[in-house]
Amino acid sequence: MAEDLQLAEGSKTDQYQSLLPQIRALVEGETDRVANLANIVAALRQQFGWLWVGFYLVKEGELVVGPFQGPVACTRIALGRGVCGTSWKERRTLIVPDVGKFPGHIACSSLSRSEIVVPIFDRGEVVGVLDVDSEVLNEFDGEDQRWLEELVKDWDKWGY
Ligand code: SME
Repeated sequence: MAEDLQLAEGSKTDQYQSLLPQIRALVEGETDRVANLANIVAALRQQFGWLWVGFYLVKEGELVVGPFQGPVACTRIALGRGVCGTSWKERRTLIVPDVGKFPGHIACSSLSRSEIVVPIFDRGEVVGVLDVDSEVLNEFDGEDQRWLEELVKDWDKWGY
């Protein structure tokens, strides 16, 4: 694997276009899922500088925090709770421009202002979510949704 991430400048598209192949190269040949998830969140945070980037994984009927980068976070989230639990329940990406206006938002960090949560599917089942928080209002849009959904389609290549 490459030792250093090549950070891209430019538009969001430019940044994702540069980053996604590097992430694929980073995880290629590694079968340890925790190791891969850890490197993926590190790569995303290094490129974009977001406040919090992490995975919540479905375990025994709850979302349990997995590899992440950023401030400490709540450990478990029930189905339908917060942005993450709602994304899981509704099986769709949620973009929250202002977390203060999302009923039931779980504030893990008081610095978080906006959020995107992308569900991860494995054989039709939601097995987890990718959660990203920003200190900036209205940080995420359809472009982030498109690229992050593309990214998590590789779940089955991220080990076991
Ligand atoms: N805000 C999330 C909880 C997770 S933290 O942001 C890391 C939610 O409402 O589900």
